[in-house]
Amino acid sequence: MTKEEAKKRIDQLIKEITYHDYLYYVKGEPAISDAAYDALVNELKRLEKKYPELKRPDSPTSRVGGTITKKFPTRKHLVPMLSLDNCYSFEEMKEFEERIKRLIPNETFTYLCELKIDGVSLSLHYKNGILDYAVTRGDGIQGDDITENAKTIKSIPLNINLLTDIKLPTHFEVRGEAYMTFKQLEILNKEREELGEPPLMNPRNGTAGSLKLQDSSIVAKRNIQYWAYELLIYDENFPKFETAEQALNFLRECKFPVMPYDEKHKDLNGVQSFYEKWKEKRHDLEFPIDGTVIKINELRLREILGNTTKSPRWAIAYKFPAEKAITKLQEVVFQVGRTGYITPVANLEPVLLAGTIVKRASLYNFDEIKRLDLHEHDTVEVIKSGEIIPKITRVIKELRQPNAKPITTPTNCPVCGTPLIHPENEVGYYCPNIECEAQIQGRLEHFASKSAMDIKWLGEKVIEQLRKANLVKLPADLYELTYEQLINLERFKEKSAKKLLKSIEESKTRPFNRVLYALGIRHVGTVVAKKLAEHFKSIDKLKNATIEEIAAVYDIGFVIANSVREYLHNEKNWNHIERLRKHGLQFEMKSEPKPEVIEGPLSGLTLLVSGAIPGKTRDEVKQWLQSLGAKYASGVSKHLDYLILGEKPGPRKVKKAQDLGVKTISYEDFIKEFNIQV
Ligand code: IVH
Repeated sequence: MTKEEAKKRIDQLIKEITYHDYLYYVKGEPAISDAAYDALVNELKRLEKKYPELKRPDSPTSRVGGTITKKFPTRKHLVPMLSLDNCYSFEEMKEFEERIKRLIPNETFTYLCELKIDGVSLSLHYKNGILDYAVTRGDGIQGDDITENAKTIKSIPLNINLLTDIKLPTHFEVRGEAYMTFKQLEILNKEREELGEPPLMNPRNGTAGSLKLQDSSIVAKRNIQYWAYELLIYDENFPKFETAEQALNFLRECKFPVMPYDEKHKDLNGVQSFYEKWKEKRHDLEFPIDGTVIKINELRLREILGNTTKSPRWAIAYKFPAEKAITKLQEVVFQVGRTGYITPVANLEPVLLAGTIVKRASLYNFDEIKRLDLHEHDTVEVIKSGEIIPKITRVIKELRQPNAKPITTPTNCPVCGTPLIHPENEVGYYCPNIECEAQIQGRLEHFASKSAMDIKWLGEKVIEQLRKANLVKLPADLYELTYEQLINLERFKEKSAKKLLKSIEESKTRPFNRVLYALGIRHVGTVVAKKLAEHFKSIDKLKNATIEEIAAVYDIGFVIANSVREYLHNEKNWNHIERLRKHGLQFEMKSEPKPEVIEGPLSGLTLLVSGAIPGKTRDEVKQWLQSLGAKYASGVSKHLDYLILGEKPGPRKVKKAQDLGVKTISYEDFIKEFNIQV
C-alpha cells in the first residue's frame, strides 16, 4: 500500500468508525457486530502505527487514551461558567416566576424543563466542526484544559463534519455534564476495594476524579458519559436561534448526546408536573439526578434578563429534597485496612431510609467528624441522595446529652497502639506498623481471596484463629502448616484440617498473575497484575526492570511502577517471595507456544469457510484469510466467530454452526461487513 493509498484508507476508516461510534454510544443502536467494529479499529491503529505522520487529531483511536498530562494547562472561559440558584419548593418557584415577570412585564415566555444531572460540568470548543479543546468549570472564570481526557468520552463527537452536512458556526462551545452511571461507580469501587482504597461516595466524585487523571488511557476505561445542555456561538455570521429548544435540536443534529427527557411548558403547573414526575422516577434512571433545571426557553429574553454575579436570572435549579432520616449514633469504630488506612465508620441504630434499612454510615475521614462536631451518642440526620453509602449530614445538637464527649481523632492505631501517621497532601491517617495484627489479618484475607489465591477453606475466622495461635503471620507460613498443628486447634476436626491443607496445596497451581496480585502490592489490582505478568513473564524480570520499563507497559504509568519497584526491592518482601517460591508457587508465566499473529483487519477472528469461493482454491482461501490476520479453524466449534458461506455450503456444517450459536454469514456480506478488498 502506498502512502497515498494509506491516507485514503485512513480517511475512510475514520469516517466509518466515527459513524459507528455515534450509532453505538449516542443512539444506542449499533449497526455492526463488536468483532467487525474491532476489525475496523485494529486496521486504523495498524495504519497509524505504520504512518504516524498520517495520524489525525480527530482519529477515533484517541478515544482509548494513551497520553500522560503532568499538569493541565489553565484556560479562561470566553463566557464565565456560572452556577444556578437553588430552590426546593413550589412557593420558591412562584417567587422565581414573579421576579421574571417583574423584569420583563410585557413578554410571554415558555419554560424548558431539564433534569439536573449530578456530574461535573464540562465545556467543549469546536472550531470548523472539530473538537479543539475541552475545559472543566474550575472557578467559573477559568478551568483546566483536559482535552485528551475528554476525547475518551465516546459519545462526544471529535469531528462533526464526518457525521452531518449541516452548516456549522466557525467556532462554538457546548456545555454539558460529564457523569458516571451507578453501575460504572460500582465497578470502580470494586477495583478500589481490591486495591485497599476507600470507596467513592457518589458518581460525581468518580467523574471528577477520573477527568483529572493524568493518564488518559485510564480515563478511557472509566466509561464517562456526557449530556449536552447549552450552546454558545462565536460566529457573527451564523444565524441566531430563537429558542434553547432549537439550539438543542441543532446539537442533536450535530450528533451530540442531548437529554431525551426535556419538556417544554407554558406555565408553572406544567413545570410542577415535570418535577413531580421525575421526583418519583429518578431511581429508574441509570445515572444520578438531584433535581430539575427550569430555564426560560426564549434566548432573546435570556439576554434581557442577564445574570447576577453568581448565576443567570433566566434559570433555576428546582431540586429534590434529599431522602433523610433521624437516628442515633451507637459508636464510631476505626477500621484498619490491610494497607494500614484508617476508616472511621459510624454504627447507627437501624433506621429505614429510601427503602433500605441503614445501620452504618461512612464518615469518609477525620475532617468530616470535626466538621460535624460529632459527639458520643449524638442524634444524627442521615441522607441518601445519589449516594451509595448513607452519610451523616448533621447532628441535632439540641438532643445531645449534657456530658457527651466529642469523638476525637485517634492518635494511635486502635489495634496495635502504634502512633498513626498523617501523610502530607492526604486527608487520611495510616498505621505505619506493617506488623499490626489488623494489617496482617487484612493481607492474609487478601492473599486467600477468590481473585487472588482462592484458598477456599481459609476465611476470615480461620485466619484469625491461625494468627492468634501464632501459626501464621505471612502468607508463606500457610505453606508450612502441618496437620498436627491444625488438629490441636479448637473446632478443627480431621476433615476440616485436611480440607484446609488441601486447598492451600492446590493454591500452588495459581498462575503468576494471580500470585502477583495476591502479594498485595499497592496499586496492583487484578488487571495491572495480569498486564505485568504477561509483559515481564517472571518475577525476576519484573524485579530487574527499571521504573521506566515498568511504566512503559500499556496502562501502567509511574505511580504503579514506583510502587512495584519499591515493593520488590524491599529486602523483607523479597525474602518472603523467595520463601513462597521455595514452596512451589508460580513466579513465572507458563508460556504456551503461540502461533505468529498477523495484524490485519481480521485480527482476533476465528473463521471457517464452507462451500466454494469463486476463483480461489480451498488453500488459497485459507492463506488469504490468514494473511488478513484471521485464525482459520479446522472445523465447526463454539470457538468459531463466523462460518462463512460460499457456493453450496455443507448442510451439516451449517446446521452444527446454528446449533452451537455460531454466526453464519454469506461470503458477499462478510466482504462488505469487514470492508475487505478482494
Ligand atoms: S445549565 C449557568 N442544565 O448544575 C448555569 N446545568 O448548579 C448553566 N447541571 O454547573 C447550567 N444539569 O454542572 C444546566 N440540565 C442542566 C444541568 C446543569 C446539571 C449542573 C451544571 C451546573 C450546575 C449548577
